[in-house]
Amino acid sequence: MPNQEQQRLLRFLKHGIETGETVDAGGIVRSPVADFTCPDLLAQEQQVFFRETPLFMGLSSDLPGRGSYWADSETGLPILMTRAEDGEFRAFANVCRHRGMQVVADGRGDGVRFSCPYHAWTYGNTGQLIAVNRESSFGTVDKASRGLVELPCAEFAGMLWVKPTPGGDIDVARQLGGLADDMEQWDLPQHPYGASQLIRADINWKLAIDTFGENYHFDVLHRNSLTSEFHGNLQTHDVFGLNYRMVFARRRFMEILDEVIESDEWPFRRMTLSVYFIYPNVILLVDPSAVDVLRMFPDGDDPGKSRTAHSFYVAPEVREYYEENPDGYAERFIAFNHVVENEDYWVAASVQANAASGVQTHILFGRNEPGLHHYHNAHRRGLNRPPLPLEPA
Ligand code: FES
Ligand SMILES: [Fe+2]
Repeated sequence: MPNQEQQRLLRFLKHGIETGETVDAGGIVRSPVADFTCPDLLAQEQQVFFRETPLFMGLSSDLPGRGSYWADSETGLPILMTRAEDGEFRAFANVCRHRGMQVVADGRGDGVRFSCPYHAWTYGNTGQLIAVNRESSFGTVDKASRGLVELPCAEFAGMLWVKPTPGGDIDVARQLGGLADDMEQWDLPQHPYGASQLIRADINWKLAIDTFGENYHFDVLHRNSLTSEFHGNLQTHDVFGLNYRMVFARRRFMEILDEVIESDEWPFRRMTLSVYFIYPNVILLVDPSAVDVLRMFPDGDDPGKSRTAHSFYVAPEVREYYEENPDGYAERFIAFNHVVENEDYWVAASVQANAASGVQTHILFGRNEPGLHHYHNAHRRGLNRPPLPLEPA
């Protein structure tokens, strides 16, 4: 993000702190509650968003060195990601070409050869079938054509992307819709992987995304938690293709402005929280000490269940602290995900239950919640549904 753009956003937030004004979408939107409960819609979402669309999986540091791997099944398809000796990022369907067992258990680590737990067929980290156990008894297998099925993948600006269907390429710059500069600027490759946590919730996966999509609720729902860290009901909003970026002001915002006189020296990251929605299912947070990647997925075929796969990556400035305090990884998660589970997902579970009650057909997204307008319309565009009209209010 160019310095000029940072200053524009900071000036907007400064004005908001001084006046109480926030972003204005120019109208409100009504969104059908059936979107959270409809099994037919979920089936379409599974196919379009979690099979046919390139997905942002994590950062380059999820595969920190040559010979590292990461196996992840959250999309519904077991995926094996590797960085082989040539340094290249590769992704495969983690499905054995003998009888279809998942070859590598979900997790991460170092490994250049993977032996299937069923009959010990062995694969290399470029996907090739290296050995068929007792081939003389089994029969001769054409190893060259029975490697792991490769998936389209790309590494760009420190981001790892995979499409969970074979065939085709991923154009990450196009997926980012103009966010490439922002991603480059955050220097993502310099953020080592910290830790991961999976949160299961009785909420539709879109409700999980919605809880991150505005800060109108901060002073109310988070009055005993996040309010001490952020100004509520104050955000910027910018759209990049199907993605959006919001920036929130930290409580120390004005104090820092008083300390740093020259506007081109304002320390953007220390003053803000940047929240990105990366289509179709990821929230990426950048704060002074970390980058958080929260990937939201449906959980099975129940529209009322979802899983949030949350990983965090340590900012270079605090790397030393975490190296000296390994317990800090767990502590950060306890603090962060306590708010997510006990505050955000607590209200979302009530919204989910009440969506199923049929009491009302629509919910409202206000003028001060443009991220929700954008997200639901991006989702609708993906499924060839017409956008939700903006209504004067
Ligand atoms: S299913 Fe993998 S070796 Fe048999
Ligand atoms: Fe929240």
